Amino acid sequence: MAKILVIHGPNLNLLGTREPGHYGQSTLAEIDKRLKELAAGDGHSLETFQSNAEHALIEKVQTAAPAVERIIINPAGLTHTSVALRDALLAAAIPFVEVHLSNIHAREPFRSHSYFSDAAMGVVSGFGPLSYELAYRAAAGSLAAKD
Ligand code: DQA
Repeated sequence: MAKILVIHGPNLNLLGTREPGHYGQSTLAEIDKRLKELAAGDGHSLETFQSNAEHALIEKVQTAAPAVERIIINPAGLTHTSVALRDALLAAAIPFVEVHLSNIHAREPFRSHSYFSDAAMGVVSGFGPLSYELAYRAAAGSLAAKD
């Protein structure tokens, strides 16, 4: 039984109505519910957290250790800007999976660069809500491999 933390960055609270062509119709509550069901089925506990504030995301990462063993994070717009959130993840030293609903490499050129990808266990991008499920499976699978 491990603790997994899912972090959603700015504007992801608007999923369902926000640019559905890029982000689909699912709400964040629906995505979170699905992840919690998957984790419960595997015997893991899974907490979800969304904030529009960079400092709140950083504080969540800073207080995650030692309980949290894996982080799944969609840094949203901060993917392309936040050295500070990257530094928080490196300081926490908790393995993390980076996730995006859209394919960040198939959009505006500025979205192709991520401050997180080189430090992540891996990146899932472009599968809509399924991206989160795949990221969960990667995170949970790495816990199973560790045991
Ligand atoms: C996003 C992609 C980012 O470029 C964008 O700023 C987001 C969401 C995604 O999930 O596709 O807010 O991270």
